[in-house]
Amino acid sequence: MSDFGLFGGRSWLNAAHQGPLPNVAIEAARKAIEQKASPNLISDDSFFSVPHRLREALANLIGASPEDIILGNSATYGLDLLANGIRWSAGDEVLLVDGDFPADVFPWLVLKARGVSVRFIKPASGVVTAEELRGKMSPRTRLFCTSWVNSFNGHAIDLQAVSNVCRHTGVYFVLNASQGLGAKCLNMTDFSMSALTCCGYKWLCGPYGTGFCWIAPDLRESLQVNHGYWLAMQEGGSLAHMRDYSLRSDLHARSFDIFCTANFLNFMPWTASIEHILAKGTKRIEEYDDELISYLIAELRRTNFQVVSPEDRASRSAIVVVTAHERQVNRAAAVLADSGVDIAVREGNLRFSPHFYNSRWDIDRAIDALFKVQR
Ligand SMILES: Cc1ncc(COP(=O)(O)O)c(C=O)c1O
Repeated sequence: MSDFGLFGGRSWLNAAHQGPLPNVAIEAARKAIEQKASPNLISDDSFFSVPHRLREALANLIGASPEDIILGNSATYGLDLLANGIRWSAGDEVLLVDGDFPADVFPWLVLKARGVSVRFIKPASGVVTAEELRGKMSPRTRLFCTSWVNSFNGHAIDLQAVSNVCRHTGVYFVLNASQGLGAKCLNMTDFSMSALTCCGYKWLCGPYGTGFCWIAPDLRESLQVNHGYWLAMQEGGSLAHMRDYSLRSDLHARSFDIFCTANFLNFMPWTASIEHILAKGTKRIEEYDDELISYLIAELRRTNFQVVSPEDRASRSAIVVVTAHERQVNRAAAVLADSGVDIAVREGNLRFSPHFYNSRWDIDRAIDALFKVQR
């Protein structure tokens, strides 16, 4: 807990909405602001070293090469690169999941004008299974996009099984890891993926307006994205001489970065957050979060609220959604807030999302509030 602030004495059980900055990230943000208040403190070199350090940290986080990490500002940034960059043919089809977060839907819907259609899979349980995916594929299917963890019910997909279906059928598999990565470990070498995208401001505890994506090198190189960003072209050089207009072809993922890649105010604290997570150990955080979830689910069973999220380890996540009659949900949200517990109300349900800065004490506080509602 001492790695984070005191959250104003409240219990923040809402990482699925926003993850708080750890103290080291607050320090880094302070440094970035000091630099901007006294710009003499901004070194020329930092325009390269800031994105370099973030790319390295993100690569470590997912077991990838830094050369393959694209720096962005959201989960959507990576999806937008793919949707606009893939060389589509009229009649191509994208498969999506009915009930998924809208960020996974809109980037593909806007392709209608290019003759690309979208088809939804309606999962029988909370998320799509490998069998459902296989059953819905057609010869026209080019790409399947899904969240790793569903924002509204906390179900995690079976990554291995789903990625295998896509590999065997030659369909691009695009994973939105925004509600998983940081609470769950992921190593890119374990799965066959075409692309992974993730926002930085939830389980990765970065500022709002951060994100990254990884795109398999062969897919990335085939994208029709023509970014000519002057600062990327200076990579390995300096700001002292920049009027060499030769086009670089050795920039790898860097040539897809969002512009103003040094973005000091956001990327300095986000780097500190990721390095903090790495120092704590991603496996340890996953185990800690999972233990909190076991405790939360066990305690929720004592209440009148019904757990919507899966309870088995393989399909659950650090998001636990509970439901009740609408009036009871609204009253519970108000009582939780009055009791100093912050959760989210999403799609008529209560969503709890504890993370490694929480303790059983926060869970007890939430459960006490739910019992007050029942009285
Ligand atoms: C699964 C998922 N993807 C993406 C986002 C946010 O998308 P973006 O970072 O593009 O704004 C959210 C936010 O709640 C989410 O739950």
